[in-house]
Amino acid sequence: MKRPPEAARVARARILAGAALAVIAVAAGGLWYAHDDALSARLLMAVPDGIQNDPPLHAYAIRRGRAAFAAHCASCHGADLAGDPTRGIPDLADRDWLYGSGRVGEIERTILYGIRSGHPKAWNLAIMPAFATANPNKFYKMEPLTPREVADVALYVYGFSHPGQDAQALARGWAVFHKNGFCFDCHGGDGRGDPAIGAPDLTDGIWLTGNGSLASITDSIAHGLQGICPEWIGRLPAATIRSIAVYLNAVSAGPSHE
Ligand code: HEC
Ligand code: HEC
Repeated sequence: MKRPPEAARVARARILAGAALAVIAVAAGGLWYAHDDALSARLLMAVPDGIQNDPPLHAYAIRRGRAAFAAHCASCHGADLAGDPTRGIPDLADRDWLYGSGRVGEIERTILYGIRSGHPKAWNLAIMPAFATANPNKFYKMEPLTPREVADVALYVYGFSHPGQDAQALARGWAVFHKNGFCFDCHGGDGRGDPAIGAPDLTDGIWLTGNGSLASITDSIAHGLQGICPEWIGRLPAATIRSIAVYLNAVSAGPSHE
């Protein structure tokens, strides 16, 4: 069957146009991937804390980090990064850091090796001893506290954010904190914690675990804490891990940086 010449011409033109579009799409896709590959390579070569001075690289890292966080971290840390104090999972959007001060390089290290993850380079310098048990600290010998001492030191800690507690109980709690409980050794004499070992600030009203009530503080002191964040080295590409660190740094620094 012969088509009228006009229809054949239109059909040919359509096929040609379709082919041209396909070629353009493949080329654009290729360019896009090449562009992403180049950014990914640049990201790995960059000094972590200097990435924010390179706006295209920074934007790329945030885009990639946000997606990877949603896929791998949100199950524990929450899609909104707010964590879950009922499970001891910290808020990653605030400026309060257990480890370090929120610099990209510091966050990257935590993500790479994790916290008490079992990886030899994981953060694992201290645990919160379980003071109501016979052997409070598995790393070295520590004496347990009596129920009375636990109650007094819990009130002392509660008093950091709730002034006006009973003075005598506070004085007893002070003694436990600064003497036989060795709280000062990890949390500092002023209770403000130590980001070199992941000991939280006890004065800022931000709680890793529980709601900051006297009962919940007592629970942490009596039963101890040793939260675990898995390591991601070997499970996610290095550039993805760095991207997540850039993303978390930007979010915690405030909306203007995101
Ligand atoms: C060997 C170091 C060490 C000692 C000693 C220690 N702590 Fe801790 N404490 C920690 C660490 C580390 C954490 C956080 C644990 C985690 O991340 O799971 C913590 C967490 C806590 C928390 C929970 C804070 C929060 O934000 O939820 C409280 C309360 C606390 N400690 C009070 C005390 C008191 C009171 C004493 C003394 C009786 C004490 N700690 C002694 C290391 C220590
Ligand atoms: C199985 C639950 C779980 C998953 C999945 C998880 N985390 Fe964590 N993460 C935790 C817990 C629990 C802590 C607190 C550990 C502690 O008590 O010291 C934590 C702590 C952290 C910290 C330390 C925050 C600070 O204040 O210093 C960072 C950073 C972090 N996680 C990032 C990530 C990233 C990024 C991912 C995904 C690639 C991730 N986590 C996946 C449970 C998890």
